[in-house]
Amino acid sequence: MAIEGLVYDVTSYVSSHPGEEQILLGCGKDATSLFNTKANQGIPHSSNADRIKAGLLIGRLSD
Ligand code: HEM
Repeated sequence: MAIEGLVYDVTSYVSSHPGEEQILLGCGKDATSLFNTKANQGIPHSSNADRIKAGLLIGRLSD
């Protein structure tokens, strides 16, 4: 999934995600809005989530 122009392979993390299968809603697309709102709940993810996300980075979208 892409978040803020960066691409993450979340495959290894799906089964550990506290929001369960919600994470799958963001797969294969730009998930920026879903990530920043926890699927439109209006609640951002924590800094811990950002730390985990950083470990899943595989690339960057071209301009
Ligand atoms: C790289 C991608 C993602 C990572 C690393 C991640 C990580 C996490 C973590 C660590 C939590 C626990 C609460 C927190 O720390 O904020 C969480 C909760 C949650 N996430 Fe994600 N998440 C990702 C993507 C998504 C996406 C794309 C969605 C929605 C489509 C989503 C929806 C939720 C929901 C609904 C919770 C519910 C539990 C709560 O409210 O804390 N997450 N996620």
